Amino acid sequence: MTGTSTPKTYRVKSFGCQMNVYDGERMAELLAAKGISPAADGEDADLVVLNTCHIREKAAEKVYSDIGRLKKADGSKPLIAVAGCVAQAEGEEIMARAPAVSMVVGPQAYHRLPELLDKAVQGERATDTDMPANAKFDVLPQRRRSGPSAFLTVQEGCDKFCTYCVVPYTRGAEISRPYKDLIAEAEKLVENGAREITLLGQNVNAWSGDDAKGQNIGLDGLIRQLDRLPDLQRIRYTTSHPMDMSEGLIAAHGDVEKLMPYLHLPVQSGSDRVLKAMNRSHTAESYLRLLDRFRAVRPDIALSGDFIVGFPGETDAEFEETLRLVDAVRYAAAFSFKYSPRPGTPAAEMDRMIAAEVMDERLQRLQAAVNRDQLAFNQASVGRTCDVLVERKGKLPGQWLGKSPWLQSVHFIGDAAIGDLVTVELAEAGPNSLSGRLLQAAAA
Ligand code: SAH
Ligand code: SF4
Ligand code: F3S
Repeated sequence: MTGTSTPKTYRVKSFGCQMNVYDGERMAELLAAKGISPAADGEDADLVVLNTCHIREKAAEKVYSDIGRLKKADGSKPLIAVAGCVAQAEGEEIMARAPAVSMVVGPQAYHRLPELLDKAVQGERATDTDMPANAKFDVLPQRRRSGPSAFLTVQEGCDKFCTYCVVPYTRGAEISRPYKDLIAEAEKLVENGAREITLLGQNVNAWSGDDAKGQNIGLDGLIRQLDRLPDLQRIRYTTSHPMDMSEGLIAAHGDVEKLMPYLHLPVQSGSDRVLKAMNRSHTAESYLRLLDRFRAVRPDIALSGDFIVGFPGETDAEFEETLRLVDAVRYAAAFSFKYSPRPGTPAAEMDRMIAAEVMDERLQRLQAAVNRDQLAFNQASVGRTCDVLVERKGKLPGQWLGKSPWLQSVHFIGDAAIGDLVTVELAEAGPNSLSGRLLQAAAA
């Protein structure tokens, strides 16, 4: 490959989970620090970063087709970097199969993107999929700007090894970022406009660290410290694992006002046999009892979960147990997926794969049950008065979109601005959003 000129504009396209969104923002900050500007909407970028996800099948195929499609208006190819979890899992294959790619960088190595870019400009192709724990956070530039709702990665990696999942391989072992770095990053985000911070981790509730007094604290301790930032109004966290749930975190939902009444707690299946085969280390019953404890301290808490249908060997009766669990919980939201065999995971080697049409049917039934509960949750909110954090303009004149404390999308018409926390009465409910009546604009 011959050299090229230094790119003037970049675009980062992130797929997958919220942590990838966070990583995408950090990569954008790195590129901006190098003097490269974001490409305007609809305009070509000289450098495209595909920040990929490996969680389910076809992700890698999608990356190759995206690479094939990337072209500038004059027909030339931009510089292409593949980042994220596909880069980690299949970096070498990407380099071999896609000559248009000049940089491959894993989720723990993306702080080295600027060096890879220097090489790429010289015409050299380079891969960096090292996994030095926490190293990237020490060298990333300060946070630049922020929308009203910001992500903050506090924990990364996973030691749980659910038998279907690639994350322990693509993100590495569980690590917690140091307390003082997190407080500093949160302060910067708030200074730059964030009113809500969502703490991120593959197992966010496994976070632990030493506070300013040298005392070991868990996620609840971190949340209690963030609660003291005056201009921060809302705190959320995701994703939790049932096994890492602490007494303290449950209690925080009862007494930390800024901690929003929402809990995303994946369960995957309602069948104990399937849960065991998944290596989930909880049962359906222990999961339900855990949710009871959250409801006891915060009766209005909105619950959300993840499900996999068609795990190898899942029988009709076992799937019915999942439906029964959904009936018992009455989720405010839930995400369900068809099982997808991932190379290198134990489940991919298991017998009794479930036929595609059986999976389709199960997914439809599960989604119908979840949609029913989501609509019911939204309908039960009608008449409530709550705060809405305004995130963007709506399509209609004078219309604004934001989130309720229960993470529902709410639209309303009135006098507001992005970043305002306004008081709204929830007036009408649909399956995916509610309309509200503005009662009180934000205090100036
Ligand atoms: N760390 C989080 C999120 C993991 S990925 C957690 O433990 O919950 C998000 C979701 O993707 C998982 O909760 C699971 O429902 C789904 N998922 C993961 N691997 C999958 C696979 N091989 N096939 C289908 N769905 C999968
Ligand atoms: Fe994957 Fe399980 Fe870890 Fe979640 S807890 S990231 S599903 S291995
Ligand atoms: Fe996907 Fe990696 Fe997140 S596989 S879900 S981008 S941790």
